Amino acid sequence: MKALTAAVTAAALLFAGSAMADEALVKKNACIGCHAMDAKKVGPTWKEIAAKRKGMKAEELAATIVKGGKGVYGKIPMPPQAKAQGDSVAIAKWILSL
Ligand code: HEC
Repeated sequence: MKALTAAVTAAALLFAGSAMADEALVKKNACIGCHAMDAKKVGPTWKEIAAKRKGMKAEELAATIVKGGKGVYGKIPMPPQAKAQGDSVAIAKWILSL
């Protein structure tokens, strides 16, 4: 029973830490030159994306990160972010959790 409690606590801590870890991923992948949490930059805010794509699968949103896109939020297109492929699902999950 003690081991189970320890495992649950460890999982909870891991989960609590993940939001921060994923914010680090968008810094690492240089997304923050164009995206911020509240202030509109070149691209939509993370919260704007979360609101528009509510209910979308993380894998689908991840594909839009890797391929880039245009015309959904405005006239400026997003260039493909192929180098973020490995992190894209984690980032998409983080965005959808906002
Ligand atoms: C050069 C600027 C730029 C960079 C760098 C950039 N984005 Fe974007 N992003 C945009 C723009 C502009 C849009 C809006 C495109 C549109 O209207 O369809 C966008 C849209 C998005 C969307 C919404 C897609 C959709 O269809 O709902 C996501 C998610 C996203 N970006 C994630 C990222 C991530 C993650 C990174 C870093 C790996 C990143 N972006 C890097 C400019 C950028």
